[in-house]
Amino acid sequence: MPATDPPDPHSHARPDQVRVTHMDLDWDVDFDAAALRGTASLWLAREDARAPLILDTRGLTIEAVEVGAGGAPDLSGSFDDAARSLAWREASFELGASEPVLGRALTIALPGDATRVRVRYATTQDATGLQWLEPAQTAGKRHPFLFSQSQAIHARTWIPCQDSPGARVTYTARVRAPAPHVAVMSADMVDGTQPSAADGARAFRFAMSQPVPAYLIALAVGELGRAELGPRTAVWADPAALAAAADEFADMERMLELAEGLYGPYAWGRYDVLVLPPAFPFGGMENPRLTFATPTIIAGDRSLNSLIAHELAHSWSGNLVTNATWEDLWLNEGFTVYFERRIVEASYGPARAAMEAMLGLQELEAELAGELAARPDDQRLRVTLAGRDPDETFSSIAYEKGALLLTALERAYGRETFDAFLRGWFDRHRFGAVTTADFEAYARRELLEPREALPGARVPSLREWIHGPGLPADAPRASSPAFADVDRELAAFLAGTTSARALNTSGWVTQQWQHLLRALPESVTPAQLASLDEAYALTQTRNAEIACEWLTIAARVRYAPALPRLERFLIEVGRRKFLMPLYGALLTTPEGRAQALEIYARARPGYHAISRASVDALLADAGLRVEG
Ligand code: BES
Ligand code: ZN
Repeated sequence: MPATDPPDPHSHARPDQVRVTHMDLDWDVDFDAAALRGTASLWLAREDARAPLILDTRGLTIEAVEVGAGGAPDLSGSFDDAARSLAWREASFELGASEPVLGRALTIALPGDATRVRVRYATTQDATGLQWLEPAQTAGKRHPFLFSQSQAIHARTWIPCQDSPGARVTYTARVRAPAPHVAVMSADMVDGTQPSAADGARAFRFAMSQPVPAYLIALAVGELGRAELGPRTAVWADPAALAAAADEFADMERMLELAEGLYGPYAWGRYDVLVLPPAFPFGGMENPRLTFATPTIIAGDRSLNSLIAHELAHSWSGNLVTNATWEDLWLNEGFTVYFERRIVEASYGPARAAMEAMLGLQELEAELAGELAARPDDQRLRVTLAGRDPDETFSSIAYEKGALLLTALERAYGRETFDAFLRGWFDRHRFGAVTTADFEAYARRELLEPREALPGARVPSLREWIHGPGLPADAPRASSPAFADVDRELAAFLAGTTSARALNTSGWVTQQWQHLLRALPESVTPAQLASLDEAYALTQTRNAEIACEWLTIAARVRYAPALPRLERFLIEVGRRKFLMPLYGALLTTPEGRAQALEIYARARPGYHAISRASVDALLADAGLRVEG
């Protein structure tokens, strides 16, 4: 990063002065203490010979810092320090004040010859980037489980690092874990289940030879099995959940090929998916070579596979071409949603892609009218986040408004021209970081200026889309005949001319049910819900997206037969996207508020720190407080 670039407001690091190029990570996984303990050895490129190394940390216990000179990183992951005769000597360090969002800067003065630094440390209970699960929270129920989630700024809670998306490193890792646990990382497994020490622990070794930002470093440890899907694809899951996962993701290899057909060769070797326990706070996380996914997309009919398309698309938009700061998140997520829908279109047809685009637009419009209504600055694609926690500013803007801008450009110039433009963007910025200003300049230079818009087409205003609030009036509108069918049936049901059972729902797919449930009016009665439930067994659905829509309505109108399922769902599932509407709906009635508090008191210990923080804030906004 040249010194003229604007700094990342979410990092203390100065990679423009001293850049960490490679890390050797070495940990013991201690399930009893819920801690990782070990070392991070960092290799440095010193642009400014007098500058110290500044690392991001939050909630880490730093035990010692050493420095060394000479040697070179070894991507084989051998960790054989003696063979490479690496010597270390004790160094002094300084931990800065603890800042609420950023954590503490770890400053290490570097002797003239130093080219590497080794930090001996342990994680603490404050490691928001790690979640330690009880056996009861796993499918197999016999062993504890650990997973990391580093995006946006949680890598620093389990690795002392330059935690800025513009700073890339290669890495190796050695992870020692008690048998029968298996460790997996977002890297190549160099050497699987090697028995190590006498205590029965096994060491797993990994190497990531392509440079990645810290937020893409990921680890999971648990009872895990693996099923091959194709030459480059496999799924990892709890053995108890593996068969269902392999069947759900059977289209993955084909999706990978279709994605390559759109925007060029897949750069990362393998594309595997790890199915996590239901406490995982997100739907998916695009950790390179190993996407992390919620089990709530396993619906039995592959209907929620667009999440796989999304995380796969990040292999280009996000992992190859990375937002320089979290203020540019739309360059990761908006591009990815656009690409995701292109993969869905190629895999499952344009009707499905159109339905998903409409569902996305509905979410965006609901947020613009709801939680974003009073925050016009957060309705811009490029946002200002100094002093703010990126977890708390999360919305559909980066995702859906971002994707709509690309759709608007596609409509204006035609698919062929737009696809060549987008492929050029990926090729030009491979393994690099991009800012919104980079995109604006690139789009003007490569598209708006040299290219003629299609006859009659309107060229979207980049300035209005990127720096203005809301949705421009000429935003593209998706349309879906399949949703029109739903609207027609729903109107007949609400008018009382057709009973629930007599509705023509034959052949309806998940997305149509989602649309139906979202379109139910606020005045819908428990009796109407009962008739729908009787006809379509909605309370029993295996599909978590449909369940979430249904249970949200049930909570709002206090439809009693669904409330036990709602309670079980909230105890088991920790995915923030589901928790927020469900708790939000409970809070709309007095009985529901009491129920929300009662359920949350039991569920909260099992939720991820990110989900906890969001639900805590939701309850606080409603004037409620939970002990914990
Ligand atoms: N990279 C995101 C998850 C994320 C974003 C984590 C920002 C932390 C901060 C991931 O690719 C994602 O977008 N997941 C979505 C699913 C997707 C289909 C929209 C999710 O988890 O809901
Ligand atoms: Zn994403």
